[in-house]
Amino acid sequence: MIEYARDEAGIVTLTMNDPDQSANTMNAVYTAAMSAALDRLEAERDQVTGVIVASAKSTFFAGGDLPMMSQARPEDAPALFDLLGTIKRDLRRLETYGRPVVAAINGAALGGGLEIALAAHHRIALDAPGTRLGFPEVTLGLLPGAGGVTRTVRMLGLAPALMTWLLTGKRLKPAAARDGGLVDEIVATPEELITKAREWIAANPDAAQPWDRPGYRIPGGTPATPKLAAQLPAFPATLRKQLKGNRMPAPEAILAAAVEGAQVDLESAFVIETRRLITLLTGRIAKNMIGAFFFDMRAVNGGQARPAVEVEPARKVAVLGAGMMGAGIAYACARAGLDVVVKDVTPEAAARAVTEGDPAVLARITTTADVEDLRGCDVVIEAVFEDPKLKHQVFAEIEPVLAPGALLASNTSTLPITGLAEGVSRPADFIGMHFFSPVGKMPLLEIVVGERTGDAAIARAFDLGRRIGKTPIVVNDGRGFFTSRVIGQFINEAIGMVAEGVPAASVEQAALQAGYPTGPLALADEVTLTLMRKIHLAYRAAGVVAGHERAHALVETMLTEHDRSGRSSGRGFYAYENGRRGKLWTGLAELATDEGRAVPFADLQERLLFSEALDALRCRTEGVLRTDADGNIGSILGIGFPAWTGGVIRYVEQHPDFKGRASELAARYGERFAPA
Ligand code: NAI
Repeated sequence: MIEYARDEAGIVTLTMNDPDQSANTMNAVYTAAMSAALDRLEAERDQVTGVIVASAKSTFFAGGDLPMMSQARPEDAPALFDLLGTIKRDLRRLETYGRPVVAAINGAALGGGLEIALAAHHRIALDAPGTRLGFPEVTLGLLPGAGGVTRTVRMLGLAPALMTWLLTGKRLKPAAARDGGLVDEIVATPEELITKAREWIAANPDAAQPWDRPGYRIPGGTPATPKLAAQLPAFPATLRKQLKGNRMPAPEAILAAAVEGAQVDLESAFVIETRRLITLLTGRIAKNMIGAFFFDMRAVNGGQARPAVEVEPARKVAVLGAGMMGAGIAYACARAGLDVVVKDVTPEAAARAVTEGDPAVLARITTTADVEDLRGCDVVIEAVFEDPKLKHQVFAEIEPVLAPGALLASNTSTLPITGLAEGVSRPADFIGMHFFSPVGKMPLLEIVVGERTGDAAIARAFDLGRRIGKTPIVVNDGRGFFTSRVIGQFINEAIGMVAEGVPAASVEQAALQAGYPTGPLALADEVTLTLMRKIHLAYRAAGVVAGHERAHALVETMLTEHDRSGRSSGRGFYAYENGRRGKLWTGLAELATDEGRAVPFADLQERLLFSEALDALRCRTEGVLRTDADGNIGSILGIGFPAWTGGVIRYVEQHPDFKGRASELAARYGERFAPA
């Protein structure tokens, strides 16, 4: 894993190169190799003049061993303590080796990678497109426990260490990392990376870490110095603001490890850091967040979502409609190497699908208004307007020209698949492939199985989804399938709160603090109030009791009396300027139908979480969800259910008293919360 090479100048290059992985991580192979490298360095001390830590991968070092970490149980704590102790001891041996050590950072140095770099006396980063430095641990419910908290604080001081690096989870480009104090030099070529490292070693034979020099003090002071002591009480508040108020255990553990560690000697600080990390590792939230991070892999490995039938891979894809979704789907398919034909009503409309992107990818897309040009396609993905009549019509029009047995997929976000399949001659080949906007960024593909959809169609849609880099879930047909239906509960519950007189800002804040990436009112503006009304009316026409009457009344008033329909029109719950979201509309308070009663903040959060969780449970009972894994994956990757929960079903399972709390909410806010 670590190649050891000493040149005639006595400079040892340690090249990290995990033979079994595409990237270097802090796994058992690394730990053993690093110890062995240090042993050898110590044995050859007399011949060594300096050390360069480098990587043979395209990234420098990816970080911790997440699969291992996600399995940590409380009884593993002693073993973890030893393991982290060994990792830290070796990095300490490196920085106190007595020779200059330079980190030659050729690509991403994240988490554990940055921690290794911090044990060097000098960090040089290659200005390559993929070079990013940062501590993503906080976004996984973890903290940098290989000396990252301790060294960053000692290098930069408490406030900059926390606010720029440890609490943000940001992955900074080389220039920003230099401004942030953790990169010393930036070079343009891989050759320069090594030349500069050698020059620095030659010029700094007595290199040592600042904290190993006499008279060292933590920059900006320690918690015991008056100035910092005065600032410290404000830290938690600043922290909450920084994290949009999201109080998960990782930020607090990082803050505590940093503050406590700053008051003691280096070795004691290391131990505090280790203990804090182990608490996080053996708890459930880090597991849930790592699980969310790894869902993509699970979907591939889990296998049960895809029926075990052999099918031909897709060759040529027809996309109907060159609108926002059609263009995105066409691009995603072309990027995966597929030939794509996009059809719209006029050649000009179709041509909009090839206006933006990598020319090599766009070259695989042809555009047309002529059905004949779809001849021979073996997959069609329909993304025309959300109108069942139109959808029936376009399928009828194209069926005759497609390859025999072509997969017929619709990207509808709300229309039941069974109904859409009625017009086609081969309903077994008809399926929903529900992509999310923006297609290039959103990882989920919701595959919707109609009553007559066959297993081969599911397998083909699944394989195509994988091929274009999406994580597929497979759900059974129903109004709003799984994702659209469940997120509808979230949005309507929130609008209902506004109608009850809860300040809109509190509603948004409650969602953000619960861990949702976007507030429900901002989401409503994205969906548009017009579409929400349309869906509601369609439900009503179909005799479905969807509840949330008060929310719908408020939407109706906003549309008809105040002309506020959402982001696309520049005014909704928020005001928009040049497409950017501005302030919440102040007129909302006057639309409240009730006396503003004080709703406890915890209730606001749990009403949002429970509205979705209870609907997910109904999806399970009704058979819309085929597996709990689909529910967990779909909720996080598709509709922003908080990642710390591990997914909507896991949230229910791990809640200390889901049923009791649901009954309480039902008594206070309505029967929709009654646990089934
Ligand atoms: P859009 O309005 O941007 O695009 C629709 C396109 O279909 C237009 O370019 C239109 O000219 C074209 N079209 C109309 N009649 C046609 C015909 N006979 N043949 C070929 N093309 C025709 O709509 P958008 O947002 O792309 O949505 C398309 C579909 O995707 C809808 O069913 C929608 O429900 C669904 N969807 C939308 C999402 C969103 O976030 N906008 C998310 C997921 C699904």
